[in-house]
Amino acid sequence: MSVFKWGILGTGKIARRFMQAAFYVPEAQVVAVGSRSQATANQFGAQFGVPKRYGSYDALLADPEVEIVYVATPHSLHAENTLAALQAGKHVLCEKPFTLNAAQAEQVIHAARASGKFVMEGMWTRCFPVVREIVRRLQAGELGEVRVVIADFGFRAPFDPASRLFAPELGGGALLDVGVYPVALAFMVLGAPKQTLSTATLGSTGVDELCSIVFTYENGAHALLSASLRADTPKQAHICGTNARITIPEPWWKPSEAYLIRTDGTTEHLLYPYEGDGLQFEIRHVHDCLRQRLTESPWMPLDETLAIMRVLDTLRAQWGVRYPGE
Ligand SMILES: NC(=O)c1ccc[n+]([C@@H]2O[C@H](COP(=O)([O-])OP(=O)(O)OC[C@H]3O[C@@H](n4cnc5c(N)ncnc54)[C@H](OP(=O)(O)O)[C@@H]3O)[C@@H](O)[C@H]2O)c1
Repeated sequence: MSVFKWGILGTGKIARRFMQAAFYVPEAQVVAVGSRSQATANQFGAQFGVPKRYGSYDALLADPEVEIVYVATPHSLHAENTLAALQAGKHVLCEKPFTLNAAQAEQVIHAARASGKFVMEGMWTRCFPVVREIVRRLQAGELGEVRVVIADFGFRAPFDPASRLFAPELGGGALLDVGVYPVALAFMVLGAPKQTLSTATLGSTGVDELCSIVFTYENGAHALLSASLRADTPKQAHICGTNARITIPEPWWKPSEAYLIRTDGTTEHLLYPYEGDGLQFEIRHVHDCLRQRLTESPWMPLDETLAIMRVLDTLRAQWGVRYPGE
């Protein structure tokens, strides 16, 4: 069995979940972790059995044993961290959203393609077995012509103006944190929208705490999407075609099941239970891509990541949400 040697950049909540998921992927070997603080790196390394513990991101990237870097920092650092990892000759899996804005995404994608290294936005939803099955059903035409996509992702976050969810300097706001999931789902099913209509409620830190979005498409389809940091919403997704619809229950962005409901009254339950949190499917997908010597994921290509970032920019411009330096 060939082993893939990962380095974890940042030690927050998702980095910890990554470690738990890596447990289900025997060929994933996390050889090193890097933190802004040596004490935090030591604590993380001890908790998860990571042998090499670095007190800076640069030290992690300088380790020749690390092949793939998992960028798990706030959105505002994704571009800088991914560029540094590429410069150090590493493959990169970078958490969503890929960057803060499309200009940064273009810069990173340019560097990625020049480097010949594998780079992927961590849109893990695309890697779940039930999502792959949904894509197969869509491609087989089982839904007929898709007319409507409906998806929401809203949760109640305790207000903390310094946290990455609310602080503009860390890329705060519902759209970039959770709205990117429904936007990416609409892209997966319908591609890039023709027109983008939206409204948002901005909070006291100036970021979007609630946003509602309508995409329209050349073929007349619509996507109805929303995201929230202040209220829990149903967190379901629906893909509605002329012959059938697919409903993905909560939590649709990391699903284990979906219902295919046909207009003839029959229903098929697509059931793909999994252990743990589900990040293991994304880790395995990265390994599969590397085995095939791919530099991009066919499930989350960089051009689509860039197109999504452009739409996120358009939405924020509609609401007047700008991050420091923009
Ligand atoms: N796929 C998913 O389900 C999922 C879920 C949650 C989050 N995410 C994404 O993952 C990224 C991290 O989210 P998270 O929830 O893990 O965040 P978090 O708990 O705040 O952790 C972020 C980590 O980044 C590092 N960091 C570097 N500069 C920082 C700064 N100025 N302020 C705060 N932290 C800083 C810190 O690690 P050190 O102190 O060790 O340097 C920190 O622990 C986000 O982009 C988010 O969108 C993805």
